[in-house]
Order: sequence, then C-alpha cells, then structure tokens
Amino acid sequence: MKQSIFSHKFSPDAGILQLMDDLGRYAGQPGIKMLGGGNPSHIPAVQGYFRQRMLRILDSERDFENLISNYSGPAGPSQFIEALASFLNTRYGWPVSAENIVLTNGSQTAFFYLFNMFSGPFADGTFKKILLPLAPEYIGYEDCGLYPDIFISHKPEIKLLDGRLFKYHVDFSRLEITSEIGALCVSRPTNPTGNVLTAAEMDQLSTLAQEHDIPFIIDNAYGLPFPSIIFTGEKPPMWEPHMIMCMSLSKLGLPGTRTGIIIAAKSVAQKLEAMNAVISLAPGGFGGAMALEAVRNGEIARLSEDVIRPHYEAKAWQAVEWLRAALEGIDFYIHKPEGAIFVWAWFKGLPITSQELYNRLKARDVLVIPGQHFFPGLKGDWPHKYECIRLSYAMDPEAVESGIKIIGEEVKKAYAEYEARNLKYEIRDTK
Ligand SMILES: Cc1ncc(COP(=O)(O)O)c(C=O)c1O
Repeated sequence: MKQSIFSHKFSPDAGILQLMDDLGRYAGQPGIKMLGGGNPSHIPAVQGYFRQRMLRILDSERDFENLISNYSGPAGPSQFIEALASFLNTRYGWPVSAENIVLTNGSQTAFFYLFNMFSGPFADGTFKKILLPLAPEYIGYEDCGLYPDIFISHKPEIKLLDGRLFKYHVDFSRLEITSEIGALCVSRPTNPTGNVLTAAEMDQLSTLAQEHDIPFIIDNAYGLPFPSIIFTGEKPPMWEPHMIMCMSLSKLGLPGTRTGIIIAAKSVAQKLEAMNAVISLAPGGFGGAMALEAVRNGEIARLSEDVIRPHYEAKAWQAVEWLRAALEGIDFYIHKPEGAIFVWAWFKGLPITSQELYNRLKARDVLVIPGQHFFPGLKGDWPHKYECIRLSYAMDPEAVESGIKIIGEEVKKAYAEYEARNLKYEIRDTK
C-alpha cells in the first residue's frame, strides 16, 4: 500500500520509538535498574495531595460527572485555563489572559505542533528551520518534523569546573540567525544535561529572537513556577509576547494525565487551538481537574518549592557522589546538576560508543539513554556525542546506586579492553 511522504516519520526506526519501546518493555520488571526513563519520582506528599484531590472530585455532586462526561473546548478546560491565567498574572506579573493559554495532550504534542508551525515550507517559497542554540538538547524533538532536516543546532562551549563537574554554555560565536530560521528553542532546565542556561544567555537569545521577529520557544517542563526542579536559586522568568512558554504537569507528578500547557501570543494560541480541534477535538481534561485547586490557591507553587525541588536536589547530588566513587581512576566529568531529573556523565575518550555502552548495560539489567541521540540538528561528527550517557536519578535510591556501580564497572572494562588491545582512540567506530 502506498503511503504519503510523511509516513517515513512514523516508521519503527524512529530513535525515540525504539528507546521508548525498551523503556516500556523493561519498566517495572524485577531487578531492572531503570535509570533510562523520564518518569518523575513517586513522592508520597505529592501523590497524597493528588489522591485527596481525586477524592474531593469523586465526593462532589457534579465534578466527577463533568470531568468524565464532557469535552472541553479545543483550548482545554476553561476553569483551569482561567485559574492558570490569573495565577500567572497576579503572582508573577505575566501579561496573560485565558486567550494566551492552550493545553495539549502532553507537552510532547505541543512541540510537534510548534515545530511544524514554524518550520518546513512557507507560502513565500522558503523552507524554514528551528534553531536549537545548544546541543545536547531533548531527544523528543528529534523526530517531530513532518519534513526532514528541520533542526539546526550548535556545539556548546564546555567549561570545566571543580570536582569533576562541567557546564555547557551557548557558543554565541556560532549562532547565526539567517532568514532560514523560523524559531529558536531551548529546554531550560535542559533534558538531558540538567543544565540551566544563565539569565544572560536567555536574555541574549530572547533579544536575538525579537530582533529577527521569530518566536523564542522555551521548554519549561522542569522549570518555574512549577514543578520548580531547578537548583540555581532564581526567580520565575517573565513571559513576553514573542516567547512561547511550554509547560507540563508531568514532572509535577502527573505524567499519566498527559497535560501540556502552552503560553503564547493570542495569534499563535488561536492556531494551536485549531490544531487541537483537528487532531484531537479537545485535549483531555483530567490533568486540569487534578491541578485546578492547587493553581487557584497557589498550593502548586508551595508543593513545587517545598517538596518537589528539595527532593530532586538531594537526589541529584547523591547520584553525583555515587558516580564519583564508581568512576574513580577514569577521566570522567559530570554536568553540574542545576535542574531536571537527570545526570549527564561524560567519559572522555570512551573507546566504545555510548550506544554500545547502552547495550552492555542493558545486558546487565541497567537502562540508561545513550548520549548520541541528544544532538538533533548537529552537523558533522563530534566524538563528544558518543562519550556521554544520560541517567535518571528519579527512581528509588537502591536502583540508582546499584545501577551506577554497574555503570562504573562497564566503563572501566571498556577502557581496560581497549588498552589491552593497544588500539588508538582516533580509530574507534563512531557508528
Ligand atoms: C524537556 C522536555 N520537554 C518535554 C517533555 C514532554 O513531556 P510531556 O509530554 O510529558 O509533557 C519532556 C519529557 O520528559 C521533557 O523532558
């Protein structure tokens, strides 16, 4: 059967599909050290809060029936959207109203909409691309474009820090906003690295976007004001009309509700609403209902700041300690954990690819994500791509600690095998 030119996008070879497949297959199996997925921790205080909220929905005369029996409008459940607009406006001074907000079935869907809205063929005959100023960047963007080759990304500057830490910075000398660029996009905090682009970097990117009259898409899935998985001590950012702020209820603890939130200029929001109508009639209302009270009374910010952030910050530094111990004697670096739920480990001169390391770890029941998949749009080969892995520290500490020990053993084994064969770093296979 003949299929359209877009069908290749959804082939079983899509990188994210294969990795999600592995994660789905191994999740919950006894003995598996699941350091690969993006699931948030099951934090009792957060789960307890949402359990109580669910009970209140069930207890009320109408809330449960309304939740299950009605479609929302194509922008999402209006009560939640109104409450969120007021929360962002009164608490954080964002100049937004309900008309600036559209919900999607997970923020992953939002990226599919946005990237295809601002890249690909345009009516004036141009073909536009999305500029990711700093790679590594979120793996979930990779296969989003209906047209091939929609990303341009650039290598970062690498700054080595004390204690075997390092930090990526945007290399502004490489950034060129040509007429080919349809939008800028960054995840902040960044998945996979836990990087938080500095305020100065964000200002510079925002100015560049404004000067070139293109949107600045900010993937705030881990950021402020919720779920606040950001350890740099900063205040919530300000939204401006050229920004498209993408948020999510997933890392707050509700990934099963599939709730993404886009805050954008009204003209953009209207188009997104229309996309929702065509693709899904309306986004699901479950996440909005679960978070409604917490947004109305500000509890969402308190839970984020007092419970969720300290939980992840402690786990991040614990994982760094375990890595330092497990990798002693190796030339390794860890991206300074500034946010998100991952650590990004770099094994300098690793003699096997990160994909091969992934396979070896999988054979020992440890799941991570090979770093080489986190460079959408980066042209040319760069050994660094193959020397990193992303591991989640969100799972229970026993699994994380024992998984990290096995990572240490396998990395050391790879270097030892290589030295034994007396091969040179330069000729390793980077496929
Ligand atoms: C940076 C980033 N953006 C977007 C998403 C998509 O999240 P969701 O579709 O669950 O809202 C994720 C999920 O892990 C992520 O890490």
